[in-house]
Amino acid sequence: MVHITQGDYVGRSVIISWVTPIKKYPNTVRYWEADGSDKHGHGLGHKHEHKHVAHAITTTYRYYNYTSGFIHHATINRLKYDTLYFYELGHGNAIRRFSFRTPPEVGPDVPYTFGIIGDLGQTYDSKQTFEHYVSNPKGQAMLFVGDLSYADSHPFHDNRKWDAWGRFVEKSTAYQPWIWTAGNHELDLAPEIEENEPFKPYLHRYHVPHKASESTSPLWYAIKRASAHIIVLSSYSAYGKYTPQYNWLRQELQRVNRSETPWLIVLLHSPWYNSNSYHYMEGESMRVVFEPWFVQSKVDIVFAGHVHSYERSERISNVRYNITNGLSIPVKDPSAPIYITIGDGGNIEGLANNFTEPQPLYSAYREASFGHAILDIRNSTHAYYTWHRNQDRESVSADSIWLYNRHNFPHEEKSGACTIV
Ligand SMILES: [Fe+2]
Repeated sequence: MVHITQGDYVGRSVIISWVTPIKKYPNTVRYWEADGSDKHGHGLGHKHEHKHVAHAITTTYRYYNYTSGFIHHATINRLKYDTLYFYELGHGNAIRRFSFRTPPEVGPDVPYTFGIIGDLGQTYDSKQTFEHYVSNPKGQAMLFVGDLSYADSHPFHDNRKWDAWGRFVEKSTAYQPWIWTAGNHELDLAPEIEENEPFKPYLHRYHVPHKASESTSPLWYAIKRASAHIIVLSSYSAYGKYTPQYNWLRQELQRVNRSETPWLIVLLHSPWYNSNSYHYMEGESMRVVFEPWFVQSKVDIVFAGHVHSYERSERISNVRYNITNGLSIPVKDPSAPIYITIGDGGNIEGLANNFTEPQPLYSAYREASFGHAILDIRNSTHAYYTWHRNQDRESVSADSIWLYNRHNFPHEEKSGACTIV
């Protein structure tokens, strides 16, 4: 159950995580730069390569009657940009070898392609979504919007499901960074079995570079990758005025430099605009606190999960209301983000197929199908966004739109119908 994620603010570092079930060792990872003749693919490397060694921070935890294996997190630093690296774990006959490519140096016109999945779980549908994404050669890093294993849907939050999920997604997570967001299924609160520490399994298993963005918690943080500044928020941590998350977000939005990273993307779990009766209005209190900042900062896109279907909003805001003026209806706003709900990964709870009728004006496209999305950033002004349903081939997108950057090219976008790319 090997997974990697970005390890610093700018993409020159990677956190490699793995588990040794019985013994604490080996707690090291060997890594090296693939040389020129071996740049394309997951080959075997070469004899003359120089291997570096990184030591892990090792942790374990107990949850009710479950004891975890030794969970290792090794941060490797000072990598070259846009370079293929190999890494290997274990010794002798048990060596496992993987690879990853670092992102290009942060800059305004650097193309980069993200995958987006939410609420994945580990069912037959999850497998379809995951394999569908893996079969798409475009995705270079994953923006995961929360709800990973659904271990908590099983008796006593059966934590072996956390292990199983780690193995299930390894084929992608060992080779490209997944940017993690915590959802409600990461809370793992179960006072009836004396499990009162929120996010315990998740925080032991998934490390993120929150200190690099001066965050005090791994549940909210930011990274820059290629031409994107990505902000991750926690729907299930305090966000009211003067809370740590509130103070941090205010600071982080001031650090965003759109001439360096024109694309400003936010990941959170519980959507703010959702016209499904499932989890309706759950994101409302966070929207009230943060939406004015998102409009002022001209956030390009907000990705959320939680609702097990797909929906894309128009660029709308609802920030005029001041208690007495009655202006409480969302309006078109060219400075507002597009809100995408993509909680349709395929988890054990099934699809949310109960949209409110009629479709509200703020909702541009909605459908209860499992799938994933691809955000293909082309330059500082244009990105092509596509949603891929599991029932279609990868080349088909059921929803697609050319997104125009809010800082550099704030024109009105036109939604596309079903297209083949
Ligand atoms: Fe959720």
